[in-house]
Amino acid sequence: MGKNKLSKFDDMAEYPHVFQYPFERLQAEGFPLKGHWREHFFKNTNPIVLELGCGKGEYTVGLGRLFPDKNFIGIDVKGARMWSGAKESLEAGMTNVAFLRTHIELIEFFFAPGEVSEIWLTFPDPQMKKLNKRLTSTRFMKLYRRILAPDGIIHLKTDSYFMYTYTTEMVKANRYPVLCDTADLYHSPEADDILSIKTYYEQQWLERGINIKYIRFVCEEREELIEPDIEIELDAYRSFNRSKRSALASTK
Ligand SMILES: C[S@@+](CC[C@H](N)C(=O)[O-])C[C@H]1O[C@@H](n2cnc3c(N)ncnc32)[C@H](O)[C@@H]1O
Repeated sequence: MGKNKLSKFDDMAEYPHVFQYPFERLQAEGFPLKGHWREHFFKNTNPIVLELGCGKGEYTVGLGRLFPDKNFIGIDVKGARMWSGAKESLEAGMTNVAFLRTHIELIEFFFAPGEVSEIWLTFPDPQMKKLNKRLTSTRFMKLYRRILAPDGIIHLKTDSYFMYTYTTEMVKANRYPVLCDTADLYHSPEADDILSIKTYYEQQWLERGINIKYIRFVCEEREELIEPDIEIELDAYRSFNRSKRSALASTK
């Protein structure tokens, strides 16, 4: 039988590379590693890469293995999921991986301006009806820009046609330089060791025959950000509940 949530939380409280900070404490004391992650935690001068909404942290750990000369931090609000990546990286003795349990909306409390080089968004909920919660909306671009280096990069890997189309339009509207863009990653020449890391959610979408989309762009400074003004077809399978989704054979 697998570990229950409570014992995972007990483990996480002991892990030296997992940070969980109640909001009241953040407000009162601030986060001591803000602006000092490299110097005080990773003990190097390597770039910092975040995986936002990391779930079990497959990208955080997978990239950590591929790039020992970069530092990776997985961020999610759900601790029981994060436990898997935290445990794996600890047992493997990885010194370039950490996890932070918090709401993405609070990242400015944890990172200083320019402290982050890259952000990965791995299979975020497309939030088709809530622009405000969509992790590639201009609201979040503004937030990411505050912690990213001037040439900071954002990666989005998604199953969602809606999320992919919205993001490509948002990128176009704001003239962000595109470094890579494919609507069908695994049938394109782009699928290298990095992009072939598969997350828990990704596996499920692949089993359902859904193409994986990927876009990488530079989140440059802009005086004003423009929300794309287009109608996007909704993902039909996402209107199903979980049990009906499993009956889905294939779609976009
Ligand atoms: C669909 S899951 C994807 C998880 C993982 N990246 C994967 O591909 O398996 C989305 C994850 O984002 C997290 N998440 C969504 N919005 C968040 C927010 N505002 N702050 C922190 N975590 C968030 C959820 O808790 C969830 O674990």
